[in-house]
Amino acid sequence: MKVAVTGTPGTGKTTVAKGLSEETDLKYVSVNKLAREKDCIISYDDRRESDVVDVKKLRNETNDLENCVLDGHLSHFLAVDKVIVLRCKPSSLKDRLEGKGWDEDKVMENVESEIAGIIEREARNSKERVYSIDTTDKSPKQVVDVIINIFEGEDDGVYSQYFDWIERDEVETL
Ligand SMILES: Nc1ncnc2c1ncn2[C@@H]1O[C@H](COP(=O)(O)OP(=O)(O)OP(=O)(O)O)[C@@H](O)[C@H]1O
Ligand SMILES: [Mg+2]
Repeated sequence: MKVAVTGTPGTGKTTVAKGLSEETDLKYVSVNKLAREKDCIISYDDRRESDVVDVKKLRNETNDLENCVLDGHLSHFLAVDKVIVLRCKPSSLKDRLEGKGWDEDKVMENVESEIAGIIEREARNSKERVYSIDTTDKSPKQVVDVIINIFEGEDDGVYSQYFDWIERDEVETL
């Protein structure tokens, strides 16, 4: 099995993907690291302070991987059979990103991206088996347990549904 853990920065991809790897036989793979190792970086985006990745080339590099969990905000575009989208309430995400010491512009750009559900849309437009988990009031361990339940088919389909903060009325407090 190959599973992508994706989401807006700060939603907990790295924390959860590593935790999932410890609880299962899935090998942890950092997509950012893989992109650098496999020479899939096209350029550097100064404003976003992040690498611009050749996703098509990187997808080819992931074809032969087996039994792994791919951590990164591009992982839903890669050769995976399940996608976990981590979500976080915008006001809490703001706190998490400020906690990382990020400047106000970068924090707000990512909070807006989470409100708009950019990654959620991308993931659901590119893959069939997509599961969205609200991490806001869960510990990383609880999120890992939810993912394992999903793998075991014990999630009642709740996580398969499209997740939208605007519909949930969770944006007015910012
Ligand atoms: N339920 C949760 N799941 C995951 N992380 C959580 C949760 N609750 C709080 N956190 C905290 O949120 C932060 C998430 O940071 P992390 O680096 O894992 O996110 P990320 O999605 O990998 O970000 P980036 O895109 O910048 O790599 C950590 O400090 C983590 O402890
Ligand atoms: Mg990370």
